[in-house]
Amino acid sequence: MRITTVSSANEVGVLAAQIVAADIHRKPDCVLGLATGETPQAMYRELVRLHREAGLSFQRVTAFALDEYIGLAPDNPNSYSHYLHTHLFRHVNLPASNICLIDGLARDVALECDRYEQQIAEAGGIDLQVLGIGQNGHIGFNEPAMSFARGVHLVELDAVTRADNARFFAHLTEVPRYAISLGIKNILAAKKILLLASGQSKCAPVYQAIRGAVTPRVPASVLQDHPDVMLILDQDAADLL
Ligand code: PGA
Repeated sequence: MRITTVSSANEVGVLAAQIVAADIHRKPDCVLGLATGETPQAMYRELVRLHREAGLSFQRVTAFALDEYIGLAPDNPNSYSHYLHTHLFRHVNLPASNICLIDGLARDVALECDRYEQQIAEAGGIDLQVLGIGQNGHIGFNEPAMSFARGVHLVELDAVTRADNARFFAHLTEVPRYAISLGIKNILAAKKILLLASGQSKCAPVYQAIRGAVTPRVPASVLQDHPDVMLILDQDAADLL
């Protein structure tokens, strides 16, 4: 694991965007796995700026969402489909046919998981997976559990995650109880992983993920087993290291 500490949450995003952009330059048809949440917003802002001002082209890029709530339509402002369109897709030249999203309204969730798993395989796997980290150590919506290593799957969201994400909703009761997420197996299969964390609330999970034992109780700890992981932290998130 390579760990880089920068001075602010915005700098986390700027550096992450530079790394994503460098990978796109190196491999213009690369496959990106994209996280949502508050942390990567600065990265998307910078990617949009690089597209507008420095000619960064997404023409041949393919993008996969990391996860999605069950029960939210793609036009619901809290859906991750909506998030990715709002923060990135609608501002860059990524062809619609290269945008791969999870259907949170799928009638048959198991079938939707299989379809998405297949879509990732057909794209040749993910080259660069961008991740955040939850206060409970989750990556994607892989919540603390008894075991690792599942593919795209249905998740019952942890109480910590629902409480944390309630800030995006009018009330905790509106936060969906279930989601579909790439599994640990999919994340570890990415050729390169970029984990972003900022803020004091992330210093404990970051510490546990990096310095603690590899355990499914701290899902991010599994990244210790991946050969190409880079963590970009602000000083608050790196506080315990
Ligand atoms: P956040 O979410 O960036 O909104 O803190 C991170 C995560 O839960 O993975």
